[in-house]
Amino acid sequence: MGPDRVIIFDTTLRDGEQSPGISLNATEKLEIAHQLARLGVDVIEAGFPIASPGDFEAVRAIAREVHGPVIAGLARAHAADIERAAEAVRDADRPRIHTFISTSDIHIEHQLQSSREDVKGSARASVAHARSFVDDVEFSPMDATRADVEFTAEVIGIALEEGATTINVPDTVGYATPDEYAAFLRRLYDLVPGLGNVVLSVHCHDDLGLAVANSLAGVRAGARQVECAINGIGERAGNASLEEFVMLLHTRSAQLGFATGIATREIARTSRMVSRLTGYPVQPNKAIVGRNAFAHESGIHQDGILKDRTTYEIMDATTVGLEGNDLVLGKHSGRHALKSALQELGFEVDGQALNTAFKRFKEIADRKKQVTAMDLEALVTDELRDQLRSYTLEWFDVDVSNRRPPHARVAVRTPEGEEVLGDFTGDGPVDAIFRAINAATRREARLREFRIDAVTGGQDALGEASVVLELGGQSAAGQGVSTDIIEAAAQAYVRALSNAERKAHMAAEAAVEEAALTPTP
Ligand code: KIV
Ligand code: ZN
Repeated sequence: MGPDRVIIFDTTLRDGEQSPGISLNATEKLEIAHQLARLGVDVIEAGFPIASPGDFEAVRAIAREVHGPVIAGLARAHAADIERAAEAVRDADRPRIHTFISTSDIHIEHQLQSSREDVKGSARASVAHARSFVDDVEFSPMDATRADVEFTAEVIGIALEEGATTINVPDTVGYATPDEYAAFLRRLYDLVPGLGNVVLSVHCHDDLGLAVANSLAGVRAGARQVECAINGIGERAGNASLEEFVMLLHTRSAQLGFATGIATREIARTSRMVSRLTGYPVQPNKAIVGRNAFAHESGIHQDGILKDRTTYEIMDATTVGLEGNDLVLGKHSGRHALKSALQELGFEVDGQALNTAFKRFKEIADRKKQVTAMDLEALVTDELRDQLRSYTLEWFDVDVSNRRPPHARVAVRTPEGEEVLGDFTGDGPVDAIFRAINAATRREARLREFRIDAVTGGQDALGEASVVLELGGQSAAGQGVSTDIIEAAAQAYVRALSNAERKAHMAAEAAVEEAALTPTP
């Protein structure tokens, strides 16, 4: 690897998954991880294995099935966390344990309620413990940018003595400015003699909108790993956006002189997949992947573009995979055409999965003249969503008129296999069907967010619904795709309900496990 090659460490499935309302199941995480490998990321942080049995299983499945990138599991500086992470990543071709502990006094005093001495001891013990399982160990002094630089340097020195191979310096609360961050890293290079022999990494949050700028400042100060997430998702305002950082290095490579191994044409598709599976929309004017990122509205701009694209575009939409896929199927396309179209999109679908995909495709092709690559992506991703222990929508009727309130009747199959019926007269057709589902399942779920988008343009476009609801203190998201928007909405609602129940179930299991591990006085 050349000196100017920047390692792209993707944390969509870990920091990204910590965004409120996101609850990806193991199949969805695996699908995203496969796509991240196609995108060419160097490291996938697959999750936080001690956080829940579901997280552990997902990290283990990714470690076993996704080849190419390093697979990392996160662990606090506790022996139990490290052991769980080690077990989860054990079968990866190249496993990594990423362990962290805060070095800022704010965190040491108020959160850890500990002391600087204890932090040094924990850093030493955790890196040594992680190294007893794997050769590749990353250490992060959390909240470093608000910490005393001398103390942080001391802790990093300890991590290096114990064999850490990557040192990550997080701007955990997105507080630093680019100049400060670069100066902090340069000071660490001065204070820690061995730092120049390992990979220095940056991990920036976007609370002040500076995550990408800070990451660039870090790289210019010597860092060669950047931690980022697709669509910039993550805690609070999110992490540095992978697509923005990568396209910054790509577009300005002549001036900046850095390169990544990212297959940029996979960017748009990865962004759509993550948005769809997490239920987090991409704002229309989002750099690189927003719907309007390459749209020109003013007459002057349109005129310029028609004469020469470079008048108002610094990147070509095809470079990020936003255009150039003219794959179209219709209602006469057969199973073979569908299979090869899906293969072209990177989905290997065979056997029963192909039969189900073909059935869905035919239903859609009957209602929609042309089925495009974007429709197929939406359809396949939609199929991933149903899993064991879910409610499923069997059928529904909604009576809509502008002379009386809408009335909905639904039949829902419970996770136990029973068909339950419910009906409700609501304020609108969507409200009526959501409450009819509550009545059928006898759940008091509360709708928090609802959105409906068209997958492509045109009157017959597929509708993609996204729901966030709250049930018994758990918030969960669900999505659904159909040419009928009421059906898409109802599908999204039952999936969100299933996810909320699954989360509640896992939280209860984790509480029982924790109680069993807590020694009685
Ligand atoms: O923001 C942060 O500090 C983190 C660490 C776990 C690296 O996410
Ligand atoms: Zn973070």
